[in-house]
Amino acid sequence: MSLLSITQLKVHFPTQDGIVKAVNTIDLEIANNERLGLIGETGCGKTVLGMSIIRLLPPSTTIEGEIRYKGNDLLKLTEKEIRKIRGKEIAMILQNPTTSLNPVLKVGDQIAEAIKLHQGLDRRAAKAKAVEMLEAVKIPDATKRANEYPHQFSGGMKERAMIAMGLACDPAMIIADEPTKGLDVTVKKQIVKLMKEVTTQKTMLFITHDLGVAAEICDNITVMYAGELMEYANTEAIFKNPMHPYTQGFLNSLPSMGLKAIKGMSPSLIDLPSGCRFHPRCDFADAKCRTEHPELIEVEKSHYARCFQYA
Ligand SMILES: Nc1ncnc2c1ncn2[C@@H]1O[C@H](COP(=O)(O)OP(=O)(O)OP(=O)(O)O)[C@@H](O)[C@H]1O
Ligand SMILES: [Mg+2]
Repeated sequence: MSLLSITQLKVHFPTQDGIVKAVNTIDLEIANNERLGLIGETGCGKTVLGMSIIRLLPPSTTIEGEIRYKGNDLLKLTEKEIRKIRGKEIAMILQNPTTSLNPVLKVGDQIAEAIKLHQGLDRRAAKAKAVEMLEAVKIPDATKRANEYPHQFSGGMKERAMIAMGLACDPAMIIADEPTKGLDVTVKKQIVKLMKEVTTQKTMLFITHDLGVAAEICDNITVMYAGELMEYANTEAIFKNPMHPYTQGFLNSLPSMGLKAIKGMSPSLIDLPSGCRFHPRCDFADAKCRTEHPELIEVEKSHYARCFQYA
């Protein structure tokens, strides 16, 4: 059964230059205990999709559609109600720990704050739990480290602290936004291992543009392009039988596959291409792709692609 069910979700930002169409009619289900990877190039809308789930977007944002969590539409909850979900039921490990951690608060106190808010523990108990969480994410000397400030942490340790904060209230679901970005290979491996361990009993939406990391962690993968889902399948199928030309191009751009970049650039989300959003960069595009918009269809059992080749 789905823990989270997104239907016809649109997220648009009105700006001075026009409407930024960051998420365009997305349907997505995440089953209980599933680890779903959300991948795509920079600026395609991954973070916006993640943030819309826990409603961390500016008030001026236009959001349409439904995001049902355990059956309740999160988009219909009041601010007070969503605050009870945020962190406690669904936690987001935000992209970029350097800006997400408060530089003037000790790391342990920041984690304790989240615990106090949701679990009703007093200050001392919350701090003790925060130290426990830092131990759980394998930060050595956790008691001492809890009393340090973020700038005293290395990149990998900051990421661990972010994960600890996300896990602090034992949420059922985690949205992890690029937890391995900017880390060197060895530290990245450690974080991947940790993410796998800490999410064995959890549901996770794992946002990344690192396909290698997604392959290691995720059961299923969905590929996003210009605010839309282009492909969805289990992880093995995405790698062995990528169907969408964008997914194929994305795989070919991996270092292990020869670093062949996709031609052209991602489109502006203010002025989206007609027809298939990928057609200006696609080697297979024909007249139909330029004018008609393809639907996401089930090409093989549980393998979906948005491409006229398979229609
Ligand atoms: N508050 C906002 N107002 C206007 N535009 C926004 C706002 N937030 C995000 N955007 C735009 O929405 C688009 C999608 O951004 P998003 O951060 O979701 O991309 P992303 O896929 O997470 O990229 P990256 O891989 O670099 O993290 C971008 O064009 C971004 O500039
Ligand atoms: Mg992002």
